[in-house]
Amino acid sequence: MMRIAPLVVILCIATVVGLGDGAGCPMHAAFGRRSLKQVPPVVQPPLQFGYYATSCPNLTNIVAERVNFWVLQDIRTPGKLLRLFFHDCVAAGCEGSILLNSTAALQAEKDAPISATLDKFFVIDDIKAAVELQCPGVVSCADILALAAVKSVALAGGPSFDIDLGRRDGTVSYLAAATASDPLSTMKVDALVASMALAGLDINDLVALSGAHTIGEVHCTSFTDRYDPALNTPFPDAAFGAELQAFCTGNGAAPDFATLNLKTFMDLQSPNMFDTSYYVNLIIGRGVMTSDQDLYNDPRTQPMVNQFATNRTAFFDAFIASMLKMGRQGVLTGTNGIIRKQCWTAQL
Ligand SMILES: *[C@@H]1O[C@H](CO)[C@@H](O)[C@H](O)[C@H]1NC(C)=O
Ligand SMILES: *[C@@H]1O[C@H](CO)[C@@H](O)[C@H](O)[C@H]1NC(C)=O
Ligand SMILES: *[C@@H]1O[C@H](CO)[C@@H](O)[C@H](O)[C@H]1NC(C)=O
Repeated sequence: MMRIAPLVVILCIATVVGLGDGAGCPMHAAFGRRSLKQVPPVVQPPLQFGYYATSCPNLTNIVAERVNFWVLQDIRTPGKLLRLFFHDCVAAGCEGSILLNSTAALQAEKDAPISATLDKFFVIDDIKAAVELQCPGVVSCADILALAAVKSVALAGGPSFDIDLGRRDGTVSYLAAATASDPLSTMKVDALVASMALAGLDINDLVALSGAHTIGEVHCTSFTDRYDPALNTPFPDAAFGAELQAFCTGNGAAPDFATLNLKTFMDLQSPNMFDTSYYVNLIIGRGVMTSDQDLYNDPRTQPMVNQFATNRTAFFDAFIASMLKMGRQGVLTGTNGIIRKQCWTAQL
């Protein structure tokens, strides 16, 4: 709980200067005018399955058609959209703040150094434009991102599932929110658990959601810690570590490891297939990042890694449950938030 405090303060300062709507700001609720008049807080509705059934009945088809289109252009799209949704939810909740561009007044989450490798914002902007043509002003960018992530999992060979909707869009995005909340590739289980807890997620969610690394790429700079003896996070499979190092240093041609912008797959067995091989890799010592491999090294998480490696149903069920749980964190519903017209700006 201690680590939540700075973020709340940031949001509250924003509220005081009139940039926010007060959501998620306990100081505002406690000391604001409303509470002095003893008006009970408005209870906002939860997300619902089929939320747009009458207001935008074709929504899932539109999203599916556009995601499909972009996956055909670039097979790495699903991993990137899934990652965008995760980063939206962990930084200040699933309210589309990761999609907002910086303004003259405010540096957005997107421009945090830790967000530098996020990608495919234009895919969300494209889906939003397609949705606006059929259902203008109805569907939030936060929901479009959630649906795009869910569709991405299915298109990569993972489970098909429904997600509850009715998120509304936030109007502000703080660089500091991303910096304060994103888990790091160099973290071990203790730090990862603490980081996930900030986003309302637990150790089971950590293991299940890490399974998303069955697809997607990773920059070499995200695992340089594993070659630093002082940090003591080596590769259990030393030959695998050497292979990656050789790749990342341009096979000896460019010794400056850290400045290279090279990327490798996170699951080298089946890089674009949403399957259980991420967990199998951990067991055989071929996790790429410290935050991956430590899930097997740590006795608290090793049993789940073993289970997911051998039982696809168990992994898929747990992944779906954790995605839905993550998708409910910090949402704006009911009269909170707005429906953006374009996902990169809160200007209506
Ligand atoms: C639903 O959306 C898809 C994709 O944009 C479109 O091809 C189709 O015509 C739409 N169907 C209806 C009934 O509007
Ligand atoms: C918003 O930011 C993206 C990069 O995240 C950029 O490509 C795009 O041009 C920006 N849009 C506008 C209208 O400034
Ligand atoms: C695999 O996991 C599912 C879901 O948790 C469970 O019902 C099933 O019994 C498991 N299968 C085996 C062989 O353990």
